[in-house]
Amino acid sequence: MSLEAVVLAAGRGTRMRSNIPKVLHRILGIPMVAWVLRSLPEGVERVLVVTGHGMEVVEGVLGASGVSFVHQQEQKGTGDAVRAVLPCLREPWILVVPGDMPLLTTASFESLMGHHFGEGADLTVLTAVLEDPGGYGRVVREGDRVVAIVEEGETSPCQREIKEVNTGVYIFSRALLEEGLSYLRPHPPEGEYYLTDVVSWAVGKGHKVKAWSLKDSQEGMGVNDRVQLAEATEVLRVRKNRSLMEAGVTLMDPRAVYVEADVEVGPDTVLYPWVYLEGETRVGGGCVIRSHSRIVDSVLEGNVTVLDACVIQGSFLASGVSVGPMAHLRPGTRLEEGVKVGNFVEVKKSTLGRGTRAGHLAYIGDATLGEGVNVGAGTITCNYDGFAKHPTVIGDGVFIGSDTQLVAPVKVGAHALIGAGSTITKDVPENALALSRVHQRVIPNRGMLYYRKRKGGEG
Ligand code: UD1
Ligand code: CA
Repeated sequence: MSLEAVVLAAGRGTRMRSNIPKVLHRILGIPMVAWVLRSLPEGVERVLVVTGHGMEVVEGVLGASGVSFVHQQEQKGTGDAVRAVLPCLREPWILVVPGDMPLLTTASFESLMGHHFGEGADLTVLTAVLEDPGGYGRVVREGDRVVAIVEEGETSPCQREIKEVNTGVYIFSRALLEEGLSYLRPHPPEGEYYLTDVVSWAVGKGHKVKAWSLKDSQEGMGVNDRVQLAEATEVLRVRKNRSLMEAGVTLMDPRAVYVEADVEVGPDTVLYPWVYLEGETRVGGGCVIRSHSRIVDSVLEGNVTVLDACVIQGSFLASGVSVGPMAHLRPGTRLEEGVKVGNFVEVKKSTLGRGTRAGHLAYIGDATLGEGVNVGAGTITCNYDGFAKHPTVIGDGVFIGSDTQLVAPVKVGAHALIGAGSTITKDVPENALALSRVHQRVIPNRGMLYYRKRKGGEG
């Protein structure tokens, strides 16, 4: 049965009180409407997204997802939004989905389709039975038959008690939709055209109208405001965490771990509370990520340890690497096998070769370090001269003494040794010792006692 989907994403989303179009508000890193697009089932021939409010931004964000856009000139309600796509429709069956329903699953769409086509219906409404139906359109039945959907503001006291609500998802025959939409009348006070009115019209015309209720009513939740946004986020976070645990990841406290939608984590990795894995991050198996660490758009191979309170962005960590506590890896960082980056170390756009160690208090920027380099505490690459960034290149097996400044551009050859406290401004050849510290003077008997006596103080 040929079916195309119409996703409604033109509304203002006034209740969000936001400058961002509602459907672009992110849940686990993904815009709300993208959750909807991802959940659409395989059999859908084509997806049309109705845009209006903030359409340039919405289309910009969804541009690469293979959907087509149709403009709704003025946002005059869900009925008007579907009317805007009528001239573009070509399949006999139309699945309408609001762009603010991120919790719907593919399985539920499939079950709706199965029911619709199994029953031979002309129109099927997807409904949900909610403990608190406030704010939703109510599904009015006579006996078993659906006869109308009444918006909350227009319900009678008796109808307000109805717990079965409209999810805003429907399958329509295109012919029915075309005719039904031409009968819509605007509702005061806003003058909006309600798509829901097509239901009672179709019933009156003798069309076969059915309702199919969600198994898990939670999926029927729409996001109209920030409270619902937080509720939807919580549901999807729990789903994501559950899928990780099912795939063999240990979450020490699943209530306190935040993993975004597209993040992958390998088996036997342990995530401690307050870990944030974001964006395109991939964490291999057997890793340990300690509390308060945030990892964004990064790849961690297997058996990587991230100790507490690290920030890792746009980085690659090969297997056996250990980072932290309190380290900052910025975009372009590449740590090869067995590298150790310790506390208060910042690395940016730099590669550290196998087994290299920077244990404490260092800044490594725009640098290439070979294998087995020892970076002493307090080492700094002075990569910026106020105008441009310059590279630092350190060969294999170099030992950089503590409190060294490497003034870039500069090269240190393999197995060189740099004395502690040096400021290196010239290249150091292989195997050389470089020292640039001021000679130490020692003056006997000029210690503290000498000064205290002069001031007449006590010994
Ligand atoms: C709608 C339904 C209600 C249902 C609820 C489910 C109507 C009249 N009401 O109410 O029965 O219980 O969804 O969540 O349909 N949109 C446009 N153009 C517009 C107006 C809206 O594209 O002119 C889009 C919005 O971007 C949104 C979707 O349609 O994605 C639903 O609109 P919204 O205003 O959220 O409808 P509800 O009041 O939630
Ligand atoms: Ca809504």
